[in-house]
Amino acid sequence: MRVVNIGLCGLGTVGSGVFNVLARNSSDINARSNCQIKVAQVGCRRDNSSCDLTAVDVTRDIFDVANNPDIDVVVELIGGTTVAFDLVMTALKNGKHVITANKALIADHGSAIFSEAESRGLIVAYEAAVAGGIPIVKALREGLSGNRINWLAGIINGTTNFILSEMDSKGREFSDVLSEAQEKGYAEADPTFDVEGIDAAHKLVILASIAFGIPLSLDGIFTAGITQLEPQDVAYARELGYSIKHLGMARQTEAGVELRVHPTLVPERSLIAGVNGVSNAVMVNADAVGTTLFYGPGAGAEPTASSVIADVVDVARLMNSNADSWVPALGRISSELKEQTLLNIQDVETGFYIRFSALDQPGVLSNVTKIMGDAGISIEAIIQREQPAGESYVNVIILTNVTKEKCLDEAVERIELLDTVRGQVNFIRVEYLDQH
Ligand code: HSE
Repeated sequence: MRVVNIGLCGLGTVGSGVFNVLARNSSDINARSNCQIKVAQVGCRRDNSSCDLTAVDVTRDIFDVANNPDIDVVVELIGGTTVAFDLVMTALKNGKHVITANKALIADHGSAIFSEAESRGLIVAYEAAVAGGIPIVKALREGLSGNRINWLAGIINGTTNFILSEMDSKGREFSDVLSEAQEKGYAEADPTFDVEGIDAAHKLVILASIAFGIPLSLDGIFTAGITQLEPQDVAYARELGYSIKHLGMARQTEAGVELRVHPTLVPERSLIAGVNGVSNAVMVNADAVGTTLFYGPGAGAEPTASSVIADVVDVARLMNSNADSWVPALGRISSELKEQTLLNIQDVETGFYIRFSALDQPGVLSNVTKIMGDAGISIEAIIQREQPAGESYVNVIILTNVTKEKCLDEAVERIELLDTVRGQVNFIRVEYLDQH
């Protein structure tokens, strides 16, 4: 059996998971790859007590791994986009295949990395970069390669999903749940990456690039986090039959591609609404297959290791095959990727949940609904709460049908100018998915 020498860079949560699962399941992994997979060198700043490193060459300089002539495949699990980029490019220049779990690296530098790999006949595999243990990259790129993808909707950040699930089921405040997520180790080193939607945007860009054959780019992607979300909106949404999820949405339309990450109401009866806690899920709608849902753990040592090792098996198998028949990193070769117009959020069509505070007196609602009608917006549902004693303002919640965001903005501006309306009109986008 051919020996494939792996150089593992990073021995943190994911790195130790990869090391231990490779050791535990080695006979199956070898049989499946028809190679002997050997961790020949580990580059890490410090040992990890969960890993038995006695039989392994350990270096404190990860570049030793990328420069080691005996290494066939470099597995990058250090995170970040600066040193990791140098490491990956060094490995490629030295003729090594690369496996990474680093979504920021692929989203920011994927084009440069893939073209370097393509020009050298090398593989860069990144299954673990999106949705941890869910094999969504392979599903989209290979399993669904006979389809035209219409849209995909993903819960692709476990931290925000955990926070929203807690706000929903226990009525907790955002900041209180965030601290718990950090304590439990779900959050990124910088939690703004999670709660401001940056981590999800990185993952969405990767999925959209595969789905629509567009170059990897974060430019123009609409990104909103969950920091402004109030428990009352979670409760009102529930009352209307919806859950609020932090959704990454990519849709192919005739006018161009929509790419956006933001809090979204989804019908409670949709499967994705039942995805709670740190779990991830990606719903894909495609012309031949219809709608599919991929669900599972989006982070964690062994779930992420599961995806990294699937890439190890793939790379090992491909090393024994003709390079011309390899599946390219994004499902097609770089020269076949086509720029498409990225729709401005103003031109995107969704439903809307709106909440505002209005005087409880005759004519107030008819003024509001007239404004909505003038803007061509159709109302799906409306709730008005009885005001507490001594309070003359009431909360009004309206759910709209699908409309262009610029029409909603015009209506919101006019509603805010009404004397009978206090403060600003809050809104959250709604995706009816295939439930409407
Ligand atoms: N911080 C990420 C999340 C980890 O919460 O999903 C996995 O990318």
